[in-house]
Amino acid sequence: MRSCPLNLRIFQLFGVLLMTATVSSLLPAQSARSEKIVIAHRGASGYLPEHTLPAKAMAYAMGADYIEQDVVMTKDDQLIVLHDITLDRTTDVADRYPQRIRDDGRFYAIDFTLEEIRTLNASEGFNLVGGEKQQRYEQRFPMATSSFSVPTFAEEIELIQGLNRSTGKDVGIYPEIKSPEFHREAGKDISTAVVNLLKHYGYTNKSDKIYLQTFSYEELEMISTQVFPAAGVELNLVQLIGSEDSYRWMLQENGMTKLANHADGIGPEKGLVVSRRSTKGNIEISELVSRAHEAGLKVHPYTYRLDAGQVPQYANDFDDLLRLHYFEADIDGAFTDFPDRVVEFLKAVK
Ligand code: G3P
Ligand code: CA
Repeated sequence: MRSCPLNLRIFQLFGVLLMTATVSSLLPAQSARSEKIVIAHRGASGYLPEHTLPAKAMAYAMGADYIEQDVVMTKDDQLIVLHDITLDRTTDVADRYPQRIRDDGRFYAIDFTLEEIRTLNASEGFNLVGGEKQQRYEQRFPMATSSFSVPTFAEEIELIQGLNRSTGKDVGIYPEIKSPEFHREAGKDISTAVVNLLKHYGYTNKSDKIYLQTFSYEELEMISTQVFPAAGVELNLVQLIGSEDSYRWMLQENGMTKLANHADGIGPEKGLVVSRRSTKGNIEISELVSRAHEAGLKVHPYTYRLDAGQVPQYANDFDDLLRLHYFEADIDGAFTDFPDRVVEFLKAVK
């Protein structure tokens, strides 16, 4: 165990007891560097538009251990790789199909066939400001240049499996089932469709290089107890954890133990691991990682970004942020838009 140069404060969630102690006296033995992984969040999305096949190929070449897919369904029940259930933040759908807008001003993937979605140009994410498109991350790939498309989930699996074949590597996939309740209300069982496609491509048991993730605990439990048995598969499942308010029971003392009945890991927002209240001289590490490890769960927080304003002020720089999370808080892996930087960081500390 590395000794800690800072006065580290371990914070308990929900304002229970605040304890001050040295990390070495409280945390279990760290996982070995060789077990720590890098997950390319939406691909190498810091460099190329998120969830495009070029962004995935770049992440692969940068040495990511796993590449993430967010998965949603089209009108004709095809699985596509798209972060939002709507198309308007990352494509030109509003220009191409203006009449397909819903009353809420959005363009839903579920209202479009795959053939229609294939006609769209994908780009860096943007917001509409005064009717003008404004790129969300200004220093990233220019929004109005080049041409990209929205891939199907099958196309992306074939890309990664093809690269595994041609390079001899074994890079994993990390699909997220997006908004399962929304899909169910529209009469679509996205989880069964995803699991069946995974089975088709050979992902059938926990030793396969895949983590299947969702923010919905109800869906995770259903996948574990119904969808997997029906398909005759058993894959690693990850429970994503967002705000404290929505996941309160999981963050209580026995939450991780209960979760371990159905999950193999958690994907918490990174502020649940190292508090955003932390300062340079007072790093507050929660008990979440140690509780998860005691329950046998992996911990893969999100999202580690280099862009201006994205490195929390308690860290000196991006590498310091990674050091605090990987080696002081002892996370097992991280979702990052900049997989090259995290791969380099982990190599350097070997
Ligand atoms: O799935 C991990 C991370 O990607 C969760 O955040 O919103 O980018 O899907 P989001
Ligand atoms: Ca995701």
